[in-house]
Amino acid sequence: MNKLYGPDGKTVLTSRRAFLSQSAGVAALMAASGMSTSSNLIAQPAGAATSPMNNATFPPDFIWGAATAAYQIEGAASEDGRKPCVWDTFSRLPGTTKNGDTGEVACDHYHRFADDVKLMAELGIKHYRFSIAWPRIIPDGRGAVNEKGVDFYRRLVDELLAHGITPHATLFHWDSPQALEDLYGSWRNRQIATDFADYCTQVVKRLGDRITNWMTINEIFCFTYLGYGVGQRPQHAPGTLVKSRQEVLQTVHHALLAHGLGCQAIRAATPKPAQVALVVNYDAFIPVIETPENIAAARRAFVMEEHNGTVLVPALTGKYNEQAIAKLGADAPKVQAGDMAIIGQPLDVLGFNIYTGSYVKAADNDRGYEVLPLPKEYPQMIMPWLNFIPESLYWGVRMVSEALGKTDLPILITENGCASNDEVTAKGEVFDLSRVMYMRSYLRNAHRAVAEGYPLKGYFHWSLMDNFEWSWGYTRRFGITHVDYATQTRLPKESFRWYQQVIAANRVL
Ligand code: BGC
Repeated sequence: MNKLYGPDGKTVLTSRRAFLSQSAGVAALMAASGMSTSSNLIAQPAGAATSPMNNATFPPDFIWGAATAAYQIEGAASEDGRKPCVWDTFSRLPGTTKNGDTGEVACDHYHRFADDVKLMAELGIKHYRFSIAWPRIIPDGRGAVNEKGVDFYRRLVDELLAHGITPHATLFHWDSPQALEDLYGSWRNRQIATDFADYCTQVVKRLGDRITNWMTINEIFCFTYLGYGVGQRPQHAPGTLVKSRQEVLQTVHHALLAHGLGCQAIRAATPKPAQVALVVNYDAFIPVIETPENIAAARRAFVMEEHNGTVLVPALTGKYNEQAIAKLGADAPKVQAGDMAIIGQPLDVLGFNIYTGSYVKAADNDRGYEVLPLPKEYPQMIMPWLNFIPESLYWGVRMVSEALGKTDLPILITENGCASNDEVTAKGEVFDLSRVMYMRSYLRNAHRAVAEGYPLKGYFHWSLMDNFEWSWGYTRRFGITHVDYATQTRLPKESFRWYQQVIAANRVL
């Protein structure tokens, strides 16, 4: 059974019911549901700072971290033997990124990683999620290993370990080697799955003495559904036009296969016991009013909607969701014998990237639910897709247990964050208060999930620092550290200071 934590975050309770009865009645229920501590619905007793209402304390072993990705921060695009990835090529095409921005220099982390690790230590994180660039390790995508590329990650990881920071490495965060795109159309070809697994083997053989937390692939959705399109150039690399949606779905299938073979490769190559995860930005559905009918509707949407039904569901269960496949009809992916067993490899951890969600309610239709449209004035951070829906974190975690029955699969929030219009004041400060508001609200929902006994084990903020935001170039800032791209100066924002305190106190402030 999952451990349940009392409202003090330390007492281990024996059941969900015990949690409720040992908590201070309504106040604890409110804290557990992530409601505002400043609510005046209940009179604040003296010493309210330590009352259950204010005390969103996490278990002592809760993981606090921050995340980045290779192409978004490293720069040094043609140094030490690295060859182009699809984002190098795509971002150089006119009209693909804002201002024609590329990741050529980005945050110059390749040369400044030691200072960046100092920044992490100042923040107080004990865990750091980064990604390894395939075209640095195997510049042609397959074949010879570039040892200089491996050395960079060895230096980075040694620096992390020297500062007491545990590395969590993602093996693929969208930077497919351009050579494989030229050779066989990268994700359109099944061959990429074996080439990816070989790359995993080479990395884990060399770095597995230092890294034991591996993540195969980041967000299959973004480089398949958004990287290949029919009729109109897709917004993500490789930006390939294909003739049918079936071809798009086939790229998804190949990515899932790559993940499955990658898991097997990591487990076979690791010199030490290691944890293997898949990172998914699966869709979270929130019952618009928390009634049993709407919760049941959210459960149905969670497994049936196309993205979850074709990525998360097969990865966790070894089967595509039947309703999602039926709806796709002739566009469904073509599956060969044995594929689904490879895809459904048991995972040690599920990585959940959560930014936003959708409200649902029960409906009298063939699916039994309706996804609700948001009104025009609904609060949004400055990305067209980034609606402010903090409950998405809680429901996204809960549904892995409730809709997929994976009650014991540890979940890490591997990304959560937002873009904001950050300005540096004359005194050299950045008061990114909308980010603080966003983080506080989402973390209250993380606390609710933990308090109710769901296996949420940690939180990595996206991102440690401002970086190359894909087709938005440098026009969108997601960091808790401001980066001046002209001078490469790092400046911690107010959200950095806030998160630093949260980590130190191990509770939401
Ligand atoms: C990606 C990041 C990206 C972030 C904000 C996630 O989907 O993994 O690379 O920067 O969202 O858009």
